[in-house]
Amino acid sequence: MSLTPQWLDELRNRISLSGVIGRSIRVQKAGREFKACCPFHNEKTPSFTINDEKGFYHCFGCGAHGDVIRWMTDHQGLPFIEAVKELAAQAGMDMPEMDRQAAQRAQAAKSLHDVMQAAQEFFVSSLKGPGGEQARAYLASRGFPERIQREFGFGYAPDSRTALKEALGQFPEGMLIEAGLQIVVDGKAPYDRFRGRLMLPIADQRGRIIAFGGRILTAEKTDAPKYLNSPDTPLFDKGRTLYNLHRAAPAARSAARIVVVEGYMDVVALAAAGIAEAVAPLGTALTEHQIERLWRVTECPTLCFDGDAAGQRAAMKAVTRALPLLRPGHSLRIVTLPDGMDPDDVVKKRGREAMLDLLGTARSLVDVLWDGEREAAPLTTPEDKAGLKARLLAHCETIQHPDIKTLYRRELLDRFGELAFARRERPAFTPRPSGGSFQGGQRGRGPWKPAPPPLPAATATRLQQKVGSGDALLAAVLAGLVTHPAALPRHGEALARIHPADPGMAALLDALLAFAESGAPLESAALRPILAERQLRVPSADDYDGLRFGFVSEASATALDELAEAIELVVDLPAVETALAQATERFETELSDESFAEQQRLRERRLALLTRLGQMARTRASL
Ligand code: UTP
Ligand code: MN
Repeated sequence: MSLTPQWLDELRNRISLSGVIGRSIRVQKAGREFKACCPFHNEKTPSFTINDEKGFYHCFGCGAHGDVIRWMTDHQGLPFIEAVKELAAQAGMDMPEMDRQAAQRAQAAKSLHDVMQAAQEFFVSSLKGPGGEQARAYLASRGFPERIQREFGFGYAPDSRTALKEALGQFPEGMLIEAGLQIVVDGKAPYDRFRGRLMLPIADQRGRIIAFGGRILTAEKTDAPKYLNSPDTPLFDKGRTLYNLHRAAPAARSAARIVVVEGYMDVVALAAAGIAEAVAPLGTALTEHQIERLWRVTECPTLCFDGDAAGQRAAMKAVTRALPLLRPGHSLRIVTLPDGMDPDDVVKKRGREAMLDLLGTARSLVDVLWDGEREAAPLTTPEDKAGLKARLLAHCETIQHPDIKTLYRRELLDRFGELAFARRERPAFTPRPSGGSFQGGQRGRGPWKPAPPPLPAATATRLQQKVGSGDALLAAVLAGLVTHPAALPRHGEALARIHPADPGMAALLDALLAFAESGAPLESAALRPILAERQLRVPSADDYDGLRFGFVSEASATALDELAEAIELVVDLPAVETALAQATERFETELSDESFAEQQRLRERRLALLTRLGQMARTRASL
């Protein structure tokens, strides 16, 4: 549809807004405008005005506001396109060209749907008829019950170059070609694409057949590709289609889960095992469109991949595709299947419960990313470790959503810090308790081996000495905010939760928050005179124990990210310290396993925060 802004402006210009509104409610002329009692809320004296010159109505009572199209949608209740059509008719304007083309495409598509439906009926009857023996035998060998065979519409394409063409004689040859059912090679007579294959129809979300997949009838490897799909056609766009979505979407709503597997036979096998909420892409890696589609069904689809190297590469590929698209609440979960098995094998050899158990071992996206990169290369030298950090940060850079980006950076840098900086003091590894802001951890057979440490209190103490107290960090953060006042609005909420013990810093923080709301330009040059006038002192390096934090003076994107991270640390560190003090007290009175675990978890969290703080200062200072 090409409704250009110019065309819509022309439409608005030709229509009298007061005329259109006057047909539905009583309007009165008032100077250059019209007045009426507002139809969007209940009132006795008119506060609804119509300005024909500007082409807008506005209600001073309830704020209803819009142009003539908005009137038609909001007051008359028409869908946008219907509103435009009706106004165009009134204005004597033709709907744009594209629209007619779209209508023609819809018309043509309708008849291509007819071709596909006819082909499906032909394949189904060929499977049942004479000549279908081998296909029936193959299908029986896969062990799918009769009910499933019917539901999924299995068929057979006879081993002939013309069988389909003859059976679909009522359709012009051009349509069979356009539908992808026949192949033309220049000069030669067109011939049937699918020959001697077990056929599966592929449907769109409304259940209409838009393509086919065909499998060869042997288990052995042959020269012919195992599966052949329809090419892209006006009906079928491989990258936007998910096999079985029309059945899986309703099932997913009751199962509260959708499962993505690699092959369509896996989908069928899962359905046969009573797991109806499964879909598959069509022989390619999951595309952005497919991920968005899945998110319309559930917020966290579960992807299954083989345990082998190819499967793990595919998993990483899905993860990197998803990162830029992440939005709050939306993610992916990833299941790694036992070596050499696909979901079809799992349900056949081990049963439905085993498959459900595996689905329960799904790892979170951040875990898969971390594990994948950590195992991508050895981590022996400092350069190796720096390489890991660079790869992790590069992934974070692809995340579009600002909050999710910050959280990923923080989570991955925490994990990196634990791995890279504390190793020497951690000869013995014990399992890693799940903690931090992401759930998931290492359940099941995840490949994570090295894991944190019995916590040496000395490490925390040493770090604490190096990076100073929380007060020192707060001083640096305040100095950073004076340098970058534009960052204030973003962090207002977090900053408001901080209550500095030092009265000078408390007053400075209050002044910064007030400045952010004052409407003044958020520039250091505007801020500094105000602080000077109130005799508020900006902290200097002395106040943060002589450490150097890049964000205090630099104006780079990295500096702003580090400032953001430092602010989070300022909020988190004291909260963790307090919780740790309480947990320690509890442990000393209770001596229970749980209180010990809780105390350990908090100590580890504190160490991770201090490590990160150390890194931040260390990157700038010669420690
Ligand atoms: P698999 O070879 O894993 O399929 O390919 P599968 O479902 O386990 O097949 P069976 O069990 O041997 O029958 C996974 C998917 O990759 C695409 C198909 O979409 C298939 O479902 N594929 C595979 C092709 O498009 N062409 C091929 O030659 C092979
Ligand atoms: Mn298989």
